[in-house]
Amino acid sequence: MFINHLYLKNYRNYNELELSFDQQINIFQGNNAQGKTNILEALYMLSLTKSHRTSKEKELVQWDQSFSVIKGSISTRRGKLNVEIQLSSKGKKAKINHLEQRKLSDYIGIFNVVMFAPEDLTLVKGNPQYRRRFLDIEIGQVSPTYIYHLSQYHKIVKQRNNLLKDFTQEKKNKIDLLEIWDSQLIKHGSKIIYKRIHFLKQLEKWAKQIHYGITNEKEDLSIRYLTSISSNFLPEEETEIIELFKEKIKKTREQEFYRGTTLIGPHRDDITFYINKNHVASFASQGQQRTTALSLKLAEIELIHEEVGEYPILLLDDVLSELDHIRQTQLIQTIEDKVQTLITTTSTDGIDIQTLNRSSIYHVDNGIVTSQK
Ligand SMILES: Nc1ncnc2c1ncn2[C@@H]1O[C@H](COP(=O)(O)OP(=O)(O)OP(=O)(O)O)[C@@H](O)[C@H]1O
Ligand SMILES: [Mg+2]
Repeated sequence: MFINHLYLKNYRNYNELELSFDQQINIFQGNNAQGKTNILEALYMLSLTKSHRTSKEKELVQWDQSFSVIKGSISTRRGKLNVEIQLSSKGKKAKINHLEQRKLSDYIGIFNVVMFAPEDLTLVKGNPQYRRRFLDIEIGQVSPTYIYHLSQYHKIVKQRNNLLKDFTQEKKNKIDLLEIWDSQLIKHGSKIIYKRIHFLKQLEKWAKQIHYGITNEKEDLSIRYLTSISSNFLPEEETEIIELFKEKIKKTREQEFYRGTTLIGPHRDDITFYINKNHVASFASQGQQRTTALSLKLAEIELIHEEVGEYPILLLDDVLSELDHIRQTQLIQTIEDKVQTLITTTSTDGIDIQTLNRSSIYHVDNGIVTSQK
């Protein structure tokens, strides 16, 4: 899939922007704080209806303005589509071919992006919440039902937590109500855990191969899902997950009363990465952590291709010139001729000359983009 054209109105530091893209590599070069990342963020918004760097959507609307518009014309297997996101004080609207989509889950997935940014190092060494967010975004891109179960699940956790907080004061007289929430929690939570385990299996298949290539066949990358519902056994079937969830919830009951919050479920789960069986977050060098994050992102490209039947659009924010020659080559080989790519950088100095020669280059200066080549 490709984006042919982007239009922005009152988005961040773009008053108005009209931009056409090359179907292969597009490099946005400019000094700091000129609006390079804002372009990638707008594309991310257009694909996932969320920003990759803030949950406060008001920040995306240009200062002193009341609304913001992002429009794209994209080409997918389904043909040419016009997609649009509008932000205003009334909230967010998503349109496909000018038709407003009632649910955002009907919109997400219409076209796919994979973003790789410096913050992605937190995937390996940051808090578990970054890894859960990664899972939720990436699975959500290819599975609208996952988004549905996730939103139900979050609502249930909130309600259940309110009830558990009450229990500490009102003594355990609402057990029936809690059991209703338990069964809902298990119903949606099990679907989420099941999807995540299978997604990671598929991702690992690709990431292993790619990581092996980048490290000259020296490093064997593996990925494990860590679930709070079972400490030593990773279930594979949904029925097993449901059973383990039920058992664990019973065992955790007293502790949950005491703490007044939901202690088990996918909102407490995590992922661990291993290189040659060593835990990456604890033992790996900075370079190995960066390579792990890169392997994951490249694996995602392949996984989306496998699931959707088309390659996503790749967004590389400030990362290409940071990679050494081998990693740049591996990356370019992966995307060669098949993945439309948007790259931001303050300087083209660190980028391979062959890559530069086949790219379209744009200059970004204070919210104005000019095509150089
Ligand atoms: N809501 C907004 N309205 C107007 N301008 C904004 C808004 N939000 C951010 N900006 C401006 O956008 C600019 C930052 O843009 P962006 O993050 O794209 O920079 P960049 O070119 O990627 O820089 P760097 O190289 O440092 O990453 C800043 O000048 C900031 O003041
Ligand atoms: Mg930036």
